[in-house]
Amino acid sequence: MRKHLGTALTTVAMLAGLALLAFLAWSWWQSRLPGSYDVTSYGAIDDGGAQPVAHEHFSVAGLTGPKGKPDYRLTLTAEKAPVRLSSGQNLKAWTFNGGAPGPEIRVRQGDLVQVTLANKDIGDGVTVHWHGVDVPNAEDGVAGVTQNAVEEGGRFVYRFRPEQAGTFWYHTHQDASQGVKQGLYGALVVEPKTKQRGLDLALPVHTFSGHTAIGTHDDVWRRAVPAGTPVRLRLINTDSATTRFRVTGMGSVVAIDGAPIAPTPLLPDEVLEIGAGGRYDVAFRMPNGVASVSVVNSRAALALSPDGTGAPPETKSGQVFDPGARGQPGTAFQGAHFDRTFGLTISKKVGFLNGKPGRHWALNGKLYPHVPMFEVAKGDLVRINLNNDTSSVHPMHLHGHHVTVLTRNGKPVSPWSTDTLLMLPHERYSVAFRADNPGLWMLHCHNLEHAANGLTMHVMYTGVTTPYRAGKSAHNDPE
Ligand code: C2O
Ligand code: CU
Repeated sequence: MRKHLGTALTTVAMLAGLALLAFLAWSWWQSRLPGSYDVTSYGAIDDGGAQPVAHEHFSVAGLTGPKGKPDYRLTLTAEKAPVRLSSGQNLKAWTFNGGAPGPEIRVRQGDLVQVTLANKDIGDGVTVHWHGVDVPNAEDGVAGVTQNAVEEGGRFVYRFRPEQAGTFWYHTHQDASQGVKQGLYGALVVEPKTKQRGLDLALPVHTFSGHTAIGTHDDVWRRAVPAGTPVRLRLINTDSATTRFRVTGMGSVVAIDGAPIAPTPLLPDEVLEIGAGGRYDVAFRMPNGVASVSVVNSRAALALSPDGTGAPPETKSGQVFDPGARGQPGTAFQGAHFDRTFGLTISKKVGFLNGKPGRHWALNGKLYPHVPMFEVAKGDLVRINLNNDTSSVHPMHLHGHHVTVLTRNGKPVSPWSTDTLLMLPHERYSVAFRADNPGLWMLHCHNLEHAANGLTMHVMYTGVTTPYRAGKSAHNDPE
C-alpha cells in the first residue's frame, strides 16, 4: 500500500516536472525572434476602443517627403574617426563628417531640407532619424521599419520640410544603443521665419566613455558676450541617462522639446533635469556678470561673461524645474472626445526575451516582440494613459507626433508639448495627440539600452504596411 502511494507520488512529481519543462521550452521557443520579420505581424493589435474603420492598404515606402528644389542640402558621411575633447582627451568615435557631434544642421522653418547619408565604414550600418521633427514616415530613418539600414558604401536621401521652429537632434536608428553612444548624432535647429538677433547656441551634451562634454567641451568653455545681448541656449541630452544642468544668471525656460512654452523664469539655483533625448531652451539678456550652464556631476560647463574670463559657480543642486507646475493646471483638451484611449503599463517580468531568460521590461505584461501594437486612424484624437510600474526612469519617445501632457499621477498639470516624456519611477501620465501623420511609428524608451532590451513598440495607422523587415538576417536592428 505504502509502496504504491510512493510510486504514484513519484509519477505525479515526474509528470509535473515534465509539464514545467515543456512550458519552459515552449516559452523559450516562442520568445525567439525569427531571422527577419515584419514588425506589423507581431504583438497584439489594440484598437483603443474604436469601431473598426474601412480602410485601404498603403505602404510606408510611399510616404516620402516633398519634391522640388531643396533650400538646404548636406551630405552626412558616417565614418570612424578620432575625436579630440577640449581637455585634450582623444577618443575613438563613430562620426558624421569626422566629428562627434556631427555638423550642426541649422535650417529655416518651412525650408525643404535634403540630407544625403553616406556610409563609409560603419560595419553595422547606419540611418538618420530626425528626433522630434514630425517628418513624413518614409523619412523617419528607422531601420527595418521605414527603410533598410545603409550598409558600407551605400547612400540614402532624406527630404522633409520642418514646419515647427525649435530645437531637435538627429541620430542613427540602426543599432542605436551602440551607434548613438559611439557618436552618430548631431544638433538640428529649425530657426523661425524671422531670424532672432543675438547669440544662439545649440548645446548637445554627450558622455564619451565616461567624459561628459557640451559639444566637444569636457571642461569649462568660456565665451565673451557683450552685456545686453539676447542669448538663447538649446540644451540637448543625447545620452541614455537623465542629465541635470545647473544654470545661473539666466532668465527663463522658453521651450521644451522644440515647442515654445510661456517663458518661465528660473529660480536662483534651480536645476534643469532633462531626460534622455529631451531638449530645453533657455533665453535671457546677457547680464553684466557671468551666465553659466554646468552639467551636474561633470566638469563640462559653459561660462558666458562680457570679457570672456568668467567661471561657473561650484555646482550644487537646487530645486528641480517642474514643467508641470509652471502655473495654473491647464485645461488642454478639457471636455474633448477622445476617439481612442490606450493604456500602456511598463513593468518587469520574469521570462524569456529572444530566448534569454531573466527579468525583462514588459509592456502591458508582455515581453517583446509580443508587445501591444496601438492602431489609430487619421484624424483621431488619441489619449494614452502611461504607467511606469518600475523603479527606473523611462523617457518615452513617440516618433512622428508631439503629445500634450494632461495629467500626472491623476492630477492635472500645466500642459506642455513633448516628444520625449521623462517618466520617473512609479509615475503615471495621461497624454493626448492628434493622429495627423500616417505611417508606422515607434514608441519606445530613449534609454536606448532599455529599448534594445525590449522597451519598444509601435503605433500604426489602419491599413499601413511596410516592405522592410527587421531582424538579424535583414541587417536591420533599429535599437
Ligand atoms: Cu531619438 Cu526612436 O529615437
Ligand atoms: Cu526605459
